[in-house]
Amino acid sequence: MLKISSLTVEHLPEGCVTDNPNPGISFRLESDRQNVTLKRARITVGDWMTETDSQILVPYKGKKLKPFTKYKVEVRAEDDAGETAGAETEFETGRMGMVWKAQWISDPEYIFTEKKVSPVPMMFRKKLNLKKKVKQAKLYATAMGIYELMIDGAKVGDQYFAPGFTSYKHEMQYQTYDVSGMLNGESVLTAVVAGGWAVGSFVFTRINRFDADRQAFLAELRITYEDGLEEIIGTDETWEVTEDGPYRMADIYDGETYDAAIDKEKIFWRKAAPEQLRFTPNLMADYGSPVKAHEEMKPVSCKKRQDGTLIYDFGQNFAGVVKLGIKRAKKGQAITVKHAEILNRDGSLNTRFLRTAKATAMYTCREGAQEYSPRLTYMGFRYISVSGIDKEDVNVTALALYSDIERAGDFTCSNDMLNRLQQNIIWSSKSNFVDIPTDCPQRDERMGWTGDIAVFAPTACFNFDISRFLDKWLLDVKSEQLSTGGLPNTVPVQGYGFPATMPSMAIDWWGDACVLVPWAQYMAKGNEQVLRDMYPTMKKYVKACRFWAGFGIGKHRYIWHTPSMLHFGDWVAPDVPKMSQWQGRSKWTATASLYNTSRLTGMVADILGEKKDAEYFRKLSEKVSDAYVSVFTDGKGKMKEEFQTAYVLPLWFHMFPENVQAKAAENLAKLVKASDYCIGTGFPGTPYILFALADNGQEDTAFKMLMNTKCPSWLYEVKSGATTIWERWDGLDENGECPIGDDGTDMMISYNHYASGAVGAFLYQRVAGIEAVEPGYRRFNIRPLAGCGLTYAKASTLTSYGRIVSDWKIQDGTFLLDIEVPVGTRCTVTLPDGKVSEYGSGKYHLSCTYKSTI
Ligand code: BGC
Repeated sequence: MLKISSLTVEHLPEGCVTDNPNPGISFRLESDRQNVTLKRARITVGDWMTETDSQILVPYKGKKLKPFTKYKVEVRAEDDAGETAGAETEFETGRMGMVWKAQWISDPEYIFTEKKVSPVPMMFRKKLNLKKKVKQAKLYATAMGIYELMIDGAKVGDQYFAPGFTSYKHEMQYQTYDVSGMLNGESVLTAVVAGGWAVGSFVFTRINRFDADRQAFLAELRITYEDGLEEIIGTDETWEVTEDGPYRMADIYDGETYDAAIDKEKIFWRKAAPEQLRFTPNLMADYGSPVKAHEEMKPVSCKKRQDGTLIYDFGQNFAGVVKLGIKRAKKGQAITVKHAEILNRDGSLNTRFLRTAKATAMYTCREGAQEYSPRLTYMGFRYISVSGIDKEDVNVTALALYSDIERAGDFTCSNDMLNRLQQNIIWSSKSNFVDIPTDCPQRDERMGWTGDIAVFAPTACFNFDISRFLDKWLLDVKSEQLSTGGLPNTVPVQGYGFPATMPSMAIDWWGDACVLVPWAQYMAKGNEQVLRDMYPTMKKYVKACRFWAGFGIGKHRYIWHTPSMLHFGDWVAPDVPKMSQWQGRSKWTATASLYNTSRLTGMVADILGEKKDAEYFRKLSEKVSDAYVSVFTDGKGKMKEEFQTAYVLPLWFHMFPENVQAKAAENLAKLVKASDYCIGTGFPGTPYILFALADNGQEDTAFKMLMNTKCPSWLYEVKSGATTIWERWDGLDENGECPIGDDGTDMMISYNHYASGAVGAFLYQRVAGIEAVEPGYRRFNIRPLAGCGLTYAKASTLTSYGRIVSDWKIQDGTFLLDIEVPVGTRCTVTLPDGKVSEYGSGKYHLSCTYKSTI
């Protein structure tokens, strides 16, 4: 029987509110028959209907959608055997550009000039006086800063940090809340607006007021009464404002201070006033993945220190906030919670590497039992210290906060350390998918560093469906591109000056995010729209790269050799200790980057029918690879200057002539062996080193490197008790202490940085063997690679068509493989004995004799 197993609008199965005039409709099919393909589907939205054989983001192309309207979506699908299935859902339009019957408001008397700190949270309120019975009420709201909404003290919605982090000058989200059931005649609407990213102190230079001088709020409440009449209540000067509320301090890095003991009756409210913003962003209904509370984390231990401080260990590093269930307290009792990723030897918190981030929650109690959990900040931590309350008087848990993204895949195998590595990758993803892709969740950064997601995106796409999350961020990437074609190293830009680089120039690997992220998403999800949206950005960026690489003569015209301080090079490569040495490898990393981005942009141009561009970029990539090989190698597969990344990039990108590829891999393997199978790559090389080895006859070396537990290696971190991926491979020594200290890298030591977790793709693509051949896995391979004593491995990933599973085990010399192929896709399976077979959709069981070679 055919079944529609999921139906989404703009990637959401329900609750979609959109301002997209052509929302995309996607569906997945399931069948108990084998070899099923979709023959056609009929999609109906209102009085519009289309027939299609596509399942991915079919755009609505009917009459202009009306604002504030619900639309029913029906899909009827028919497979090649004539079986049919149906499903329906609905979506709602947002404002669709309707002018707000509301004004931005703020507190005109709040002049805030202090540097490097965040403003005091502002509270706004409006006392309603509704004379009739409410049938429906919708609230549309946004803010400069981050806001929390309450009606009669009850939280509206479940999102944290609304309106989310975007390039505020260009675009901002607004949220839609159905508050029909929350209003009575005299309800009080309250909003707390903290500085957040727009106004608060942010980036390591702690710049504040980057987008506005103080917080501002915009809201429109649209009420339909039972008698059919409508009323709109918008923010204006009839609203009141104060900075005397219980939120005394809120800052992304420093934490939150909340005073529950203040006398609410004594708060002095004054009139709010219209606020003129510095710019006019495009306001759009939420189009990303809002941050929400997910796992409730329970401490695994609690130790009391001599000074009475309680140290809780959650057993897991993550991003989030504590939740204190206070059983009894005296009015005015002050509780302080500090956060850290690691402990000092004496059992106290090590907060050194948080740099300027204070990461502290301070709570002043009212009398009796109460609950507290910060709402306007978050921290990256595994340990907390709690002072000001006895252990018996408080129940301590914590909430993991991250964007509302769907878990799509998992990998498990017979090796527990690899399983932990996979879990660490998952937790570092969760911790750094906080509205935007960040570098780390704990110190004074948490910024949208482009290079980190550029290398991590393929792994992320196996584990999560992050389409909305990445599309939202990519829109900012596009908006923030400079007229020179260069891209800022962090997006959204929130004002910092990284001394080593000038974003108006193109910065290899980091800027490459505008090519690598859309490409990863396209291959994972099969959505061509992301290429169409990003192509102009890619083209301009790669041309800028080409410009900056072009200062030389002869073949050197294709070697990107601008001064190394203008690059990040082989960032965090552990085989050389100094930042300047990482950057010193930029000639190699930048030239390989130019090859890769020009090749991919050429492929995108081809897909989009831009033939002339495709030819230009293809030729450019050929010239660059020829230059790399001619200038940097002896022409026979040996680098003149040898280091792992220098081999990895040309090997994985196939820049070497075919006849020297194997030799180059052999030379890389020699280097790896010489380093005792330890990793020597930085950001650019790490995702690909195992592929570069395994795909070129060096499977054995690849596996030994993967399984290595000596420092630096992935499993060294696991052996050292890591529960997330570290920024620096040698973040802790054998005694569990940080050996790096202040080594001239500005204490760049984070234990929650996903970049080198990019090895996750190897687990899915090689160990389990799942690899897309066509975008969205319409055609894919399963070619498992067993090695290093693994006796089973299982991976699954939810694609746009359905779930792919590769599940193998070795039993008594037999290799047994179970696979699942989604409806509408085809899979080519290669068994370890070399036998190749083709499958349409369905579940299959395969086997062959197995002799271990590696
Ligand atoms: C960040 C990185 C980032 C790098 C670039 C660091 O401070 O944490 O992950 O990509 O800077 O230089």
